[in-house]
Amino acid sequence: MTSTIFAANWKMHLGPGETRAFLDTFLSGYAARPDREVWFFPPAVSLETAAQRVTDRPDIRVGAQNVHWEPKGAYTGESSVGMVHDTGSRAVLVGHSERRHVFGETDEETARKVRAVLATGMVPVLCVGEKLGEREADRTLEVVHRQLGALEDIDGHGLDGIVIAYEPVWAIGTGATATPADAATVHAAIRSWMTAHGATAAAVRVLYGGSVKPGNAEELLAEQEIDGVLVGGASLQPDSWTQICTVPVD
Ligand code: PGA
Repeated sequence: MTSTIFAANWKMHLGPGETRAFLDTFLSGYAARPDREVWFFPPAVSLETAAQRVTDRPDIRVGAQNVHWEPKGAYTGESSVGMVHDTGSRAVLVGHSERRHVFGETDEETARKVRAVLATGMVPVLCVGEKLGEREADRTLEVVHRQLGALEDIDGHGLDGIVIAYEPVWAIGTGATATPADAATVHAAIRSWMTAHGATAAAVRVLYGGSVKPGNAEELLAEQEIDGVLVGGASLQPDSWTQICTVPVD
């Protein structure tokens, strides 16, 4: 059985000093558990601080929230995969809904980023999910399949090294969550797409994100199809994050 992933997306919160303080508190209260991994996605300026703080914790991984696909160049404000890797990061969120819908990132750019991340040996966490109008128009699977198209020509071995996060856009930061059963239906469709494209069934990991909190994490993770959670707001306080990371998981 693969371990459950508890991933914290800190968005534009917690600079280096706050990151150090958060991790001091969290690490003193959270001991490694063999059935789970904890992944932190701090802002770029806090990556090195976070990565250095967890070097003695193989159960904890640090990753970036975004990268550029080019190795270097005149791209003011961007970070390359090589730079991110050099901070000690081992994963990157790609195509988060805020990148797509606030910053206008296209499917094509997302696809380039996934390839650049894979080339460094880091794990891309490809985020997919429909907007409210798309859900109401019954287009959820169509949208998710289109977004998975970013992985179209990656072979099975490559797909085995990618994590997918299903985050319905209408559930992010709103307090609304997909029901566990609804989320599981989309997760099952993602798993089928991945295996149909050559991924090994047992290697596919699909996280759920969108208003995950201490009060709903357990019921979401009770679904066989949900391999972990990607958490924004409730990951910003050591208490609520520790509560989420310690919920019972079968
Ligand atoms: P939320 O954010 O938990 O605050 O809804 C999740 C995310 O954007 O990854």
